[in-house]
Amino acid sequence: MEQTDLLVVGELNVDILLDQVKGFPVVGQEILADKMLLTLGSSSAIFASNISALGSSASFCGALGNDLFGKFILRELQSKRVDTRFILESNEHQTGITMILNYDQDRANVTYGGAMNHFSINDIPLHALHQFRHLHVSSYFLQSALRADITNLFAAAKTVGLSTSLDLQWDPANQWEFPSEECLPYVDFFLPNEKELLCLTGQSDVEDAIDRLSGFANIIVVKKGINGATAYSDNGVLHSDAYINSHFVDAIGAGDSFNAGFINGFLNGHELSECLRLGNLAGAINTTAAGGTTAFANITSVKQTAKQIFNLDFSSL
Ligand SMILES: Nc1ncnc2c1ncn2[C@@H]1O[C@H](COP(=O)(O)OP(=O)(O)OP(=O)(O)O)[C@@H](O)[C@H]1O
Ligand SMILES: [Mg+2]
Repeated sequence: MEQTDLLVVGELNVDILLDQVKGFPVVGQEILADKMLLTLGSSSAIFASNISALGSSASFCGALGNDLFGKFILRELQSKRVDTRFILESNEHQTGITMILNYDQDRANVTYGGAMNHFSINDIPLHALHQFRHLHVSSYFLQSALRADITNLFAAAKTVGLSTSLDLQWDPANQWEFPSEECLPYVDFFLPNEKELLCLTGQSDVEDAIDRLSGFANIIVVKKGINGATAYSDNGVLHSDAYINSHFVDAIGAGDSFNAGFINGFLNGHELSECLRLGNLAGAINTTAAGGTTAFANITSVKQTAKQIFNLDFSSL
């Protein structure tokens, strides 16, 4: 049977962006917005979409409602050639949505979880894991019904020989309850950003945070925004600088694009230092266009951006 490169397990929702909002919402009153955009939201979907654009074959496993927003998400993923056959279309729960009110550089978000709140390990095709080379899980804290089984999921993937990666993302409840000691031994690449790593470990210094996890984590890749990314493992520390550029539009999804560049590099057999560089380049390319997926239409346009803006060859992809 033909193998697919990776299975992405994660949350699914649409984003509704309201721009040029006249004032702040007030209970009991109505205000107007001059611009609106409906787009594919969720970190996991941005990751799947972009790694597929980079050339890896990806299947998505998650849950949405049997409704218009659900159909929209399926269409968006399929347009990026992401396989959607493991996505559960619930008749009971609606598709999740995030309403985003943009005010200059800042935004106010309200999220309705819907179907993704009910997605559990029973909805994941564990019997089919051997069809994949890699498992990537994102947004642990948003998937309340899956959380208790996170270690079982990663252990199942390792048992059938997959490589694995995890991006916890932010905890909206700010509780940071994750079984690091049990789960991280089964995670080959743990991919937090700096702030998430500090919150998770209760430390104020990255080195101390790494020390806290070093007994049981494998490779920890810490994303540091404009400071690039650093990998920590038993073999030492490797750092790669960000590709700062003058074409910056916004950093929405930069972390997910970093993950896509990094894991795509790994699946293509590159060394850790090169994976870091490819992650930073994908993160930087993400920042040259609005939102998380615009800069990743397809491999040709990604290569063009790399050449035109960064004078770099993405040909090693
Ligand atoms: N302004 C920027 N210019 C160039 N590269 C950037 C910029 N911001 C982010 N990146 C790249 O993207 C990577 C990931 O960004 P960041 O550290 O913001 O991740 P994150 O906080 O997980 O993001 P997200 O909010 O998407 O989850 C960085 O390591 C860097 O390589
Ligand atoms: Mg992130």
